[in-house]
Order: sequence, then C-alpha cells, then structure tokens
Amino acid sequence: MLRSNYSIISPKNLPQMREACALAADTLVMISHHIKAGITTNDINQLVHDYTIKNNATPAPLNYRGFPKSVCTSVNEVVCHGIPEDRLLLDGDIINVDVTSILPKNRGWFGDTSATFYVGTPSPQAKRVVEVARKSLDIGISKVGPGVRLGDIAWAIQSYAEGEGCSVVRSYTGHGIGREFHMEPNVPHVGHPGTGVKLKRGMTFTIEPMVNIGHHEVDHLDDGWTVFTADGSLSAQFEHTLTVTAHGCEVLTRRKDILINSEDKPWTIPTENS
Ligand code: MF3
Ligand code: CO
Ligand code: CO
Repeated sequence: MLRSNYSIISPKNLPQMREACALAADTLVMISHHIKAGITTNDINQLVHDYTIKNNATPAPLNYRGFPKSVCTSVNEVVCHGIPEDRLLLDGDIINVDVTSILPKNRGWFGDTSATFYVGTPSPQAKRVVEVARKSLDIGISKVGPGVRLGDIAWAIQSYAEGEGCSVVRSYTGHGIGREFHMEPNVPHVGHPGTGVKLKRGMTFTIEPMVNIGHHEVDHLDDGWTVFTADGSLSAQFEHTLTVTAHGCEVLTRRKDILINSEDKPWTIPTENS
C-alpha cells in the first residue's frame, strides 16, 4: 500500500495549529486596514514581516525555495505568487495578499490564508471576479466533512465559478499543511464528483481557488514566481486553512469582520456544517 505524507492533526496538537492559523488571519486583518491607493506592495511586505516577527513567528514565504519576500502580493492579472516591489497600488486595482505564518518560529506550525482586496473603487468586472472567487471558497468549505472526496469539493467550486462565466485555474491547487508548508494531498479546484482522496477527521489542508474572469490558462514571469493569466484577464483568490471534524470542518484561519470590499461587507463563512 502507498503511504502518504498527509497532514493529520491530532487533538493534542490542534491548539498549536489553531494559534498559528489565528496569527495568519490576524495578519490579514491588520493588512486590510492599510490597503489603499498610493502604498506599494513592498509596504505591505514590510508590515507583514514586522507584525509576524513581533508575534514571535516566522513569515513562511521568506527564502522558501528562494522566494525573496515575506508575503505574496498578486495584483490584477497576477494569479498568485506575486513578489512585493515598489509598484504603487492604484485606484481600481485588486490585490491578493497571501500570508503564511510559522508559529512558534522555525520548527512550528503553519497557518496559510489569503484574501483579495479592492483598492478604492472597483470596476464591475473586478467586483464580479472577486465575489465569485470568495463564494467559490465558501462553497468548497461548505462541502468538507469526513467521507467526502476531494473531487466533490473541486466540482462544487468549478461548477459554481464556471456557471458564473468565470474560469478556475488548474495548475495550482490547495495543499495539506501542518508542520510543513506544502504537504499531500493536492487539493484541486476543478474535478469530478466521487473521485480523489476521501477525507478523514483531522486531515488539515487549504482550499484556495484562483478564479479568472477570462480563460483559465496561466503563464509565469522569468522571476520564477509570478503567475499571471495568459489572456491578461483579472484573477482573484481567497484561501483558508481548515481541519476536518466529526461532522464538517473547522476553518482555522477564519476571522470576524474582515472588510475586503468597498461595500464594507464582512466576510462570514460557515464552520461546522452538518
Ligand atoms: N501561500 C502560498 C500558498 O497558498 C504559497 C506561497 S509560496 C511562496 O500555497 F514562496 F511564494 F511564498
Ligand atoms: Co496555500
Ligand atoms: Co497561501
């Protein structure tokens, strides 16, 4: 039988995993208050870096496989893994900030979460792709529970997003997470019901659909990291880390009242679904 390196969090370790995930979530809330036209993605990087260190944690992206910064910042047509730089945010931009914290520092637990924010007033297109991405994650989360297959979650996300006239990126997935950043299983956001890994209580992983307003195809810059839509269309993403419970899941990176859009609508999601 094949043995795999799935992340199963035992009840004994759950409090520590919760703490790491809460810090990542708090970092995102902190950043949400700074997003505005005129700041740079490097400013965001500095804020995330300092906040993480102040909380006795380590920013997981820094030096991860050579990634040069402490957070990923992905603007407009950038799908994921954008590198902070001196580029100014402009009114109408959308930006995904993807925070991963290691707590306690060095050999600790990983919490991974992201959200896409509006800079100033969004275009109707921007609003659409952001709202579809956010709801895609919520729908994926609402399916999670013991006995559910990863293909069931993927299909729920894909059928919703495509039904809204958007597309879902295929070449990047969610992932198991725990004492390592990226573990098995891969958690695809497109797929077929009744297929793939069957979930068990304690399995801990991310769901992080990347939704494009145009075609799903992506390309990357020769910085080795920045992933962008091949057709130049807008892309949005939301990510949570969660663990499977007896009847559903606990969203470990959930936070209250994060304001991510111009209508100041809090982002609330279901936890224990039964
Ligand atoms: N946080 C990303 C994820 O959700 C991974 C970023 S890897 C980095 O899996 F090196 F770019 F930080
Ligand atoms: Co992730
Ligand atoms: Co992430």
